[in-house]
Amino acid sequence: MAHVLGVDIGGSGVKAAPVDTVTGELLAERQKFATPQPATPEAIAKIVATLVRTFDWTGPAGVTFPGVVVDGVIWTAANVDPSWIGVDAAKLFGAETGLTPLTILNDADAAGVAEMRFGAGKDVTGTVLLLTLGTGIGSALFTDGVLVRNTEFGHIQIRGKDAEKRASDHAREEHGLSWDDWAGRVDEYLEHMEALLSPKIIIIGGGVSRKSDKFLPLLTGLRAKVVPAALQNDAGIVGAAIAVERAHGRAIVPG
Ligand code: BGC
Repeated sequence: MAHVLGVDIGGSGVKAAPVDTVTGELLAERQKFATPQPATPEAIAKIVATLVRTFDWTGPAGVTFPGVVVDGVIWTAANVDPSWIGVDAAKLFGAETGLTPLTILNDADAAGVAEMRFGAGKDVTGTVLLLTLGTGIGSALFTDGVLVRNTEFGHIQIRGKDAEKRASDHAREEHGLSWDDWAGRVDEYLEHMEALLSPKIIIIGGGVSRKSDKFLPLLTGLRAKVVPAALQNDAGIVGAAIAVERAHGRAIVPG
Protein backbone atom coordinates (compact mmCIF):
# COMPACT_ATOMS: atom_id res chain seq x y z
CA MET A 1 0.00 0.00 0.00
CA ALA A 2 1.29 3.44 -0.78
CA HIS A 3 0.25 6.67 0.84
CA VAL A 4 0.84 9.87 -1.11
CA LEU A 5 -0.29 13.46 -0.49
CA GLY A 6 -2.32 14.77 -3.44
CA VAL A 7 -2.55 18.54 -3.93
CA ASP A 8 -4.87 20.08 -6.54
CA ILE A 9 -4.19 23.70 -7.52
CA GLY A 10 -7.16 25.34 -9.22
CA GLY A 11 -8.22 28.82 -10.29
CA SER A 12 -10.48 29.20 -7.24
CA GLY A 13 -9.15 26.78 -4.61
CA VAL A 14 -6.10 24.76 -3.56
CA LYS A 15 -7.10 21.45 -1.96
CA ALA A 16 -5.26 18.44 -0.61
CA ALA A 17 -5.62 15.09 1.11
CA PRO A 18 -3.48 12.01 1.67
CA VAL A 19 -4.47 9.24 -0.73
CA ASP A 20 -4.25 5.46 -0.63
CA THR A 21 -3.07 4.92 -4.19
CA VAL A 22 -4.12 1.26 -4.19
CA THR A 23 -7.80 1.92 -3.47
CA GLY A 24 -8.00 5.57 -4.56
CA GLU A 25 -9.53 6.50 -1.21
CA LEU A 26 -8.74 9.65 0.72
CA LEU A 27 -7.12 8.83 4.06
CA ALA A 28 -8.25 12.04 5.75
CA GLU A 29 -10.79 14.77 5.12
CA ARG A 30 -9.87 17.02 2.22
CA GLN A 31 -8.63 20.50 3.23
CA LYS A 32 -9.15 23.54 1.03
CA PHE A 33 -7.87 27.12 0.88
CA ALA A 34 -8.98 29.85 -1.52
CA THR A 35 -6.46 30.43 -4.32
CA PRO A 36 -4.60 33.64 -3.38
CA GLN A 37 -5.00 36.59 -5.75
CA PRO A 38 -2.81 37.31 -7.57
CA ALA A 39 -2.02 33.59 -7.86
CA THR A 40 1.75 34.04 -8.02
CA PRO A 41 4.28 31.20 -7.58
CA GLU A 42 5.32 32.48 -4.13
CA ALA A 43 1.73 32.88 -2.86
CA ILE A 44 0.65 29.43 -4.06
CA ALA A 45 3.82 27.75 -2.78
CA LYS A 46 3.01 29.16 0.70
CA ILE A 47 -0.51 27.67 0.57
CA VAL A 48 0.89 24.30 -0.52
CA ALA A 49 3.35 24.41 2.40
CA THR A 50 0.48 25.24 4.79
CA LEU A 51 -1.49 22.23 3.51
CA VAL A 52 1.56 20.01 3.97
CA ARG A 53 1.84 21.20 7.61
CA THR A 54 -1.91 20.73 8.17
CA PHE A 55 -1.47 17.02 7.47
CA ASP A 56 1.93 16.90 9.18
CA TRP A 57 3.07 15.29 5.94
CA THR A 58 6.62 14.08 5.36
CA GLY A 59 6.18 11.53 2.55
CA PRO A 60 5.86 11.82 -1.24
CA ALA A 61 3.52 14.33 -2.85
CA GLY A 62 1.86 14.91 -6.21
CA VAL A 63 0.71 18.39 -7.21
CA THR A 64 -1.54 19.48 -10.09
CA PHE A 65 -1.24 22.77 -11.95
CA PRO A 66 -3.84 24.44 -14.24
CA GLY A 67 -1.47 24.84 -17.18
CA VAL A 68 1.05 22.97 -19.34
CA VAL A 69 3.74 21.23 -17.26
CA VAL A 70 6.80 19.70 -18.89
CA ASP A 71 9.39 17.99 -16.68
CA GLY A 72 8.21 20.00 -13.67
CA VAL A 73 8.46 23.34 -15.52
CA ILE A 74 5.36 25.50 -16.18
CA TRP A 75 4.92 26.39 -19.85
CA THR A 76 1.49 28.12 -19.79
CA ALA A 77 -0.74 29.79 -17.17
CA ALA A 78 -4.09 30.81 -18.68
CA ASN A 79 -6.02 31.16 -15.39
CA VAL A 80 -3.28 31.92 -12.84
CA ASP A 81 -0.62 34.63 -12.69
CA PRO A 82 1.53 34.77 -15.88
CA SER A 83 4.68 34.98 -13.72
CA TRP A 84 4.37 31.16 -13.44
CA ILE A 85 5.61 30.71 -17.01
CA GLY A 86 9.12 29.28 -17.00
CA VAL A 87 9.06 28.46 -13.26
CA ASP A 88 10.45 25.07 -12.21
CA ALA A 89 7.44 24.23 -10.02
CA ALA A 90 8.86 20.90 -8.87
CA LYS A 91 11.91 22.72 -7.53
CA LEU A 92 9.86 25.56 -6.01
CA PHE A 93 7.43 23.27 -4.14
CA GLY A 94 10.27 20.93 -3.16
CA ALA A 95 12.18 23.83 -1.59
CA GLU A 96 9.09 25.28 0.13
CA THR A 97 7.82 21.98 1.57
CA GLY A 98 10.96 19.82 1.87
CA LEU A 99 8.95 16.92 0.41
CA THR A 100 10.51 14.31 -1.84
CA PRO A 101 9.71 12.76 -4.23
CA LEU A 102 7.41 15.43 -5.61
CA THR A 103 5.71 15.30 -9.00
CA ILE A 104 3.83 18.08 -10.83
CA LEU A 105 1.38 17.54 -13.66
CA ASN A 106 -1.46 19.28 -15.48
CA ASP A 107 -4.73 19.31 -13.49
CA ALA A 108 -6.90 17.73 -16.20
CA ASP A 109 -4.26 15.06 -16.88
CA ALA A 110 -4.37 14.22 -13.16
CA ALA A 111 -8.18 14.03 -13.14
CA GLY A 112 -8.04 11.80 -16.22
CA VAL A 113 -5.50 9.44 -14.70
CA ALA A 114 -7.73 9.04 -11.62
CA GLU A 115 -10.89 8.46 -13.69
CA MET A 116 -9.11 5.84 -15.82
CA ARG A 117 -7.87 3.95 -12.76
CA PHE A 118 -10.86 4.24 -10.41
CA GLY A 119 -13.74 6.04 -12.15
CA ALA A 120 -15.72 6.44 -15.35
CA GLY A 121 -12.85 5.31 -17.63
CA LYS A 122 -11.97 2.13 -15.72
CA ASP A 123 -11.30 -0.78 -18.10
CA VAL A 124 -12.31 1.29 -21.15
CA THR A 125 -10.09 0.54 -24.16
CA GLY A 126 -9.63 2.69 -27.25
CA THR A 127 -9.85 6.47 -27.18
CA VAL A 128 -11.18 8.19 -24.06
CA LEU A 129 -11.42 11.96 -23.75
CA LEU A 130 -11.88 13.69 -20.39
CA LEU A 131 -12.86 17.36 -20.37
CA THR A 132 -13.08 19.37 -17.16
CA LEU A 133 -15.54 22.25 -17.43
CA GLY A 134 -14.50 24.63 -14.65
CA THR A 135 -12.75 28.01 -14.52
CA GLY A 136 -11.24 26.99 -17.87
CA ILE A 137 -11.58 23.78 -19.88
CA GLY A 138 -8.95 21.12 -19.25
CA SER A 139 -8.44 17.99 -21.32
CA ALA A 140 -6.90 14.55 -20.95
CA LEU A 141 -6.65 12.12 -23.88
CA PHE A 142 -6.09 8.37 -23.50
CA THR A 143 -5.64 5.58 -25.97
CA ASP A 144 -5.82 2.11 -24.46
CA GLY A 145 -5.22 3.73 -21.08
CA VAL A 146 -2.08 5.62 -22.15
CA LEU A 147 -2.15 9.40 -21.55
CA VAL A 148 -1.03 11.93 -24.16
CA ARG A 149 0.04 14.75 -21.82
CA ASN A 150 -0.80 18.46 -21.98
CA THR A 151 -3.38 18.30 -24.76
CA GLU A 152 -4.96 21.76 -24.03
CA PHE A 153 -8.17 21.19 -26.00
CA GLY A 154 -9.86 23.98 -24.03
CA HIS A 155 -8.02 26.40 -26.31
CA ILE A 156 -9.38 25.04 -29.58
CA GLN A 157 -11.14 27.85 -31.47
CA ILE A 158 -14.94 27.71 -31.75
CA ARG A 159 -16.58 30.60 -33.61
CA GLY A 160 -13.26 32.45 -33.46
CA LYS A 161 -12.94 32.17 -29.68
CA ASP A 162 -11.12 29.91 -27.23
CA ALA A 163 -13.57 27.07 -26.45
CA GLU A 164 -13.13 27.68 -22.71
CA LYS A 165 -14.33 31.29 -23.08
CA ARG A 166 -17.64 29.94 -24.45
CA ALA A 167 -18.25 26.57 -22.82
CA SER A 168 -16.53 26.48 -19.40
CA ASP A 169 -18.66 26.56 -16.25
CA HIS A 170 -17.14 29.97 -15.58
CA ALA A 171 -18.49 31.19 -18.96
CA ARG A 172 -21.95 29.85 -18.03
CA GLU A 173 -21.93 31.85 -14.80
CA GLU A 174 -20.27 34.95 -16.22
CA HIS A 175 -22.75 35.29 -19.09
CA GLY A 176 -25.74 34.18 -16.97
CA LEU A 177 -26.55 31.41 -19.48
CA SER A 178 -29.51 29.08 -18.98
CA TRP A 179 -28.69 25.35 -18.83
CA ASP A 180 -30.26 25.03 -22.26
CA ASP A 181 -28.13 27.77 -23.83
CA TRP A 182 -24.97 26.56 -22.16
CA ALA A 183 -25.66 22.93 -23.16
CA GLY A 184 -25.93 24.17 -26.77
CA ARG A 185 -22.44 25.61 -26.52
CA VAL A 186 -21.06 22.47 -24.86
CA ASP A 187 -22.72 20.35 -27.57
CA GLU A 188 -21.11 22.37 -30.35
CA TYR A 189 -17.72 22.04 -28.68
CA LEU A 190 -18.06 18.29 -28.06
CA GLU A 191 -19.15 17.69 -31.66
CA HIS A 192 -16.02 19.47 -32.81
CA MET A 193 -13.84 17.36 -30.53
CA GLU A 194 -15.63 14.21 -31.66
CA ALA A 195 -14.99 15.07 -35.32
CA LEU A 196 -11.27 15.36 -34.55
CA LEU A 197 -10.72 12.44 -32.15
CA SER A 198 -13.64 9.96 -32.34
CA PRO A 199 -13.50 9.00 -28.65
CA LYS A 200 -15.62 6.07 -27.47
CA ILE A 201 -16.51 7.94 -24.32
CA ILE A 202 -16.23 11.55 -23.22
CA ILE A 203 -15.97 12.03 -19.46
CA ILE A 204 -17.14 15.40 -18.15
CA GLY A 205 -15.28 16.52 -15.02
CA GLY A 206 -15.02 19.69 -12.95
CA GLY A 207 -17.39 20.91 -10.24
CA VAL A 208 -20.31 21.13 -12.69
CA SER A 209 -20.20 17.35 -13.24
CA ARG A 210 -22.17 17.12 -9.98
CA LYS A 211 -25.05 18.82 -11.82
CA SER A 212 -24.76 16.65 -14.92
CA ASP A 213 -28.51 15.83 -14.88
CA LYS A 214 -29.11 19.50 -15.76
CA PHE A 215 -27.15 19.46 -19.02
CA LEU A 216 -26.11 15.97 -20.18
CA PRO A 217 -29.70 15.07 -21.24
CA LEU A 218 -29.73 18.25 -23.37
CA LEU A 219 -26.77 17.15 -25.52
CA THR A 220 -27.67 15.82 -28.96
CA GLY A 221 -26.02 14.30 -31.97
CA LEU A 222 -22.91 12.71 -30.41
CA ARG A 223 -21.88 9.13 -31.13
CA ALA A 224 -19.62 9.01 -28.08
CA LYS A 225 -21.13 8.09 -24.74
CA VAL A 226 -20.95 11.23 -22.57
CA VAL A 227 -20.69 10.46 -18.85
CA PRO A 228 -20.02 12.48 -15.70
CA ALA A 229 -16.74 11.95 -13.84
CA ALA A 230 -17.17 9.47 -11.01
CA LEU A 231 -14.62 10.99 -8.61
CA GLN A 232 -15.91 14.53 -9.11
CA ASN A 233 -14.03 16.95 -6.87
CA ASP A 234 -11.45 14.43 -5.67
CA ALA A 235 -10.19 13.38 -9.11
CA GLY A 236 -7.33 15.91 -9.18
CA ILE A 237 -6.10 14.97 -5.71
CA VAL A 238 -6.24 11.23 -6.42
CA GLY A 239 -4.65 11.62 -9.87
CA ALA A 240 -1.81 13.73 -8.47
CA ALA A 241 -1.05 10.99 -5.96
CA ILE A 242 -1.09 8.22 -8.60
CA ALA A 243 1.20 10.28 -10.82
CA VAL A 244 3.93 10.14 -8.19
CA GLU A 245 3.93 6.37 -8.36
CA ARG A 246 4.09 6.48 -12.12
CA ALA A 247 6.98 8.93 -12.12
CA HIS A 248 9.01 7.27 -9.39
CA GLY A 249 8.10 3.60 -9.53
CA ARG A 250 5.58 1.73 -7.45
CA ALA A 251 7.58 0.77 -4.41
CA ILE A 252 8.28 4.25 -3.07
CA VAL A 253 6.40 4.21 0.19
CA PRO A 254 5.13 1.20 1.98
CA GLY A 255 2.01 2.54 3.77
C1 BGC B 1 -5.35 25.53 -19.06
C2 BGC B 1 -5.21 24.04 -18.92
C3 BGC B 1 -6.00 23.57 -17.70
C4 BGC B 1 -7.42 24.03 -17.78
C5 BGC B 1 -8.23 23.65 -16.54
C6 BGC B 1 -6.82 25.89 -19.13
O1 BGC B 1 -6.99 27.26 -19.27
O2 BGC B 1 -4.70 26.02 -20.22
O3 BGC B 1 -3.86 23.69 -18.79
O4 BGC B 1 -5.93 22.17 -17.64
O5 BGC B 1 -7.49 25.44 -17.94
O6 BGC B 1 -7.69 24.20 -15.39
